[in-house]
Parts: sequence; C-alpha cells; structure tokens
Amino acid sequence: MTLDRNLAVVGAQWGDEGKGKIVDLLAPAFSVVARSQGGHNAGHTVLVGGRQFILHLIPSGILHPGVTCVIGNGVVIDVGALFAELDGLAAQGIDLDGRLLVSDRAHVILPYHREIERLAEERRGALRIDTTSRGIGPSYEDKAGRRGIRIADLAGGAHGERLAGLVRANVEARNRLVAGEPLDWREVHADAAESWARLQPMVGDVSEFLASALAAGRAVLFEGAQGAMLDLDHGTYPYVTSSNATIGGVCTGLGVGPRAIGSVLGIAKAYTTRVGAGPLPTELDSVLADRLREVGREYGASTGRPRRCGWFDAAVVRRAVRINGIDALAVTKLDVLDALEELRVCTGYRCGEAHLTDLPADVERLEACRPVYETLPGWAHTRGTAGARRETDLPAEARAYLDRLEAVCGVPISIVSTGSDRSETIVRPESLGARWLT
Ligand code: IMP
Repeated sequence: MTLDRNLAVVGAQWGDEGKGKIVDLLAPAFSVVARSQGGHNAGHTVLVGGRQFILHLIPSGILHPGVTCVIGNGVVIDVGALFAELDGLAAQGIDLDGRLLVSDRAHVILPYHREIERLAEERRGALRIDTTSRGIGPSYEDKAGRRGIRIADLAGGAHGERLAGLVRANVEARNRLVAGEPLDWREVHADAAESWARLQPMVGDVSEFLASALAAGRAVLFEGAQGAMLDLDHGTYPYVTSSNATIGGVCTGLGVGPRAIGSVLGIAKAYTTRVGAGPLPTELDSVLADRLREVGREYGASTGRPRRCGWFDAAVVRRAVRINGIDALAVTKLDVLDALEELRVCTGYRCGEAHLTDLPADVERLEACRPVYETLPGWAHTRGTAGARRETDLPAEARAYLDRLEAVCGVPISIVSTGSDRSETIVRPESLGARWLT
C-alpha cells in the first residue's frame, strides 16, 4: 500500500487562505477528497473558466467528475444547508450521482443551535467572538456534552423514538435558556426525521470506506477547513472555531491513522487576513488595509463580512508549520501586493522587555505584543505578478519576497497563486506540489 501519494491541505493562518483554489487544482490527481472538520462556516471559492463556485460543506473535489467526495464524522452538518448546496451545484450542471459519502457518525446542526449561538454572543457583549452564526459551536458543544444528535440517529424516521427523545430533551433545554416563544420539539423532530429519506443514499461508514479506498491504492486528498490559528486547541483561544483545524483533526474527523496522511501542504496568503474578533498582531488600520481588502476582495465567502488585513506574520506560519508537520507551502494572492512600494514581514514580537518568536498562550498578552518587522522592496515599478504562470515571469523583488518567506517560515514554497483562476498558478519544478500537478 503506497500511502505517500496522499496529501493533506491545511490552512496556515486564520482561514480564507485560498484552500479552495489549491484543492481544486490538485483534485484531478486524486480519487477521493475528504473533509474532516468544521461545517458550513467554511467558504471555499473556486473560479473555473470565469464561473464561480462557493462550497461550504461539500469538498471542492466535487467539481471534478471522477472524484468521490467524503464528509467525515468530525464535520457538523446542517442538513438543510447541505441540500441547498447540492441543489445549487446540480443547477450549475455538476453531476452528483453517487459521488458524495456522508458519515453516519457526523453530528447535525439543528435550528436551536443557531439560537443558542446568538444568545451566547449577545451575552459575551464586548468579548463576542463574531462567529459565523451557523450553529457550529453549540453543535460541537452538544457533541462534547454527549447529548448531540448524529446522522445515524435520523435513520428511525418519524417513528424513531430515540430521535424523538433526543430532540425533545435538547429543545426543552433550549426553551429553559431562550426567553420568549418556546420552540415546539415536535416540529424540529418532524423536519429532522423527514430529511432522512433524501439523506439515506449518501450515508455510510466513512472510516471503513477510506480504509478500503486506501487498500485499493486510491489516492486521497484530505481537505482542511479554517486555519491553524482558528484551531480549538492551538489557535488564539477563545477567538477560535470549535473544531481542530490542524492535522490531528484529519485522523479523528475521518477515522484514519496518521500514516494515511502522506504529505502535508500548508496554504498561506502572501499577507494575513482574519474575519471576526481576536488578536491579529500585524493588522493594518490604514488606507493600506482598505487597499488590500479591495484589491484582494477580502470579504467573507460565507458571511460577506469585511476581513481584517495585515502584513505576513511568519511567527503565525512557523507555528502552523510545526503543529501540522507542513512539508511545503502554497502561497496565495501574491498579485494583491503588486501595487505596493514596500512590504513588511513580521518575524516575531516585542512584548514589554521580551522578544518572542512564537505566539504566547494568553490572548491579552498577544494583544499587547508589537510586531517586529523586516522591510522588503515592493515591485510596484514592474509589470507585476498578476496571472504569472512561471517563476521566471516574476519580478526579482517578488522572487526575493518569496525567498524571504521560505527562510523565515523554515519550509519550502512549492506553489504560488497569482490570480483566482486555475491557470494563474506557478508550480515550482521538483517541489511537493509538482508531484501531483505535472
Ligand atoms: P464559528 O466557526 O462560526 O464558531 O466562528 C468562530 C470564529 O472562526 C469566528 O471568528 C469566525 O469568523 C471564524 N471562522 C469560522 N470559519 C471560518 C472560515 O472558514 N474562514 C475564516 N474564518 C472562519
């Protein structure tokens, strides 16, 4: 069994690194693309021949006819959102027949999860996390609290007493928490039970499916959602999502062993963005941030919220490299920097008297840190990088910038994205990406 043909793609910053485009590019070399965590809080944008697809729950591999897509037990599923996404793809001419497998062990998001989330955010006041309001956190809370409802629980249909009991207990708990009109558990139960008829043909044991696929020598691409700094354990807690967006989430969220993973490709933007509250040490609050936001179209793919923008933070990416065991990076959106005279790269932080090369655990301490920058020349006076397909097409200053990112992050860069289309990509020869792309 050759497992080194498999690849995990993970976000090395705060999500929105451009994983959708890179997975779409790599997918034809794989037989299976599998999602292991998160839910429809994710928004993976893929532009193909001028047509835009935004995927939330379904792996980006769905755009390639020969690829089977898998949603693992670690994902939380809003069944209504899943059906809407399937309908949208079908309307865009994507053949979905028999191409999606959903784990019977995945937990569901029900309407009360969104209400509980809204309430929790209101109660946090100024300390709100600015979540995506999709019910992600409360669904994972129910899972950890051992009162969650799984896809397999829907199987009993309208007569399933187990499902009715679970829904009733959860809705009654919600009614004790949320003021105003109580929710009728029977309605929630009826909707959940009804979804089973459409869901059933897609549901199965993902761990077993992947074990057979791997044994048969089928190549698997593991598609991460969000990014290392949003990871529940390793991110800027509590300003994180409620799942493990780092590599461990692949094993627990799909039921595969660590050796199944093969290589790890980290995705990082050529600068940094974050959507929602929490520390962002290199954040710009000037016209420059507005410029990056407009040129890079930095608005959330799921929520439309403007993203906060800042310089590339090597301390963040180094941490992501270490935690994930990243073998190589894909650097995206290099072209967004084209008009800048000068660039900055954060190599560490000054925190009082201390010089830190990694992020402290305490977010208040991190908020108080000041980035230590290196300044590099920009390439505004050249023809720029937009649409470049070969490294030799890049201005010398852009190549120097990439070389410096490699040096300060301690990992090679194998892919550079210079535009939203599939074709606007540089793959460095002999690099990790080249194995799948040439
Ligand atoms: P939640 O995942 O909705 O609970 O949101 C928690 C935090 O993660 C918020 O700051 C969100 O903005 C952020 N977040 C969740 N999913 C994504 C994503 O796919 N991209 C970027 N940020 C995300």
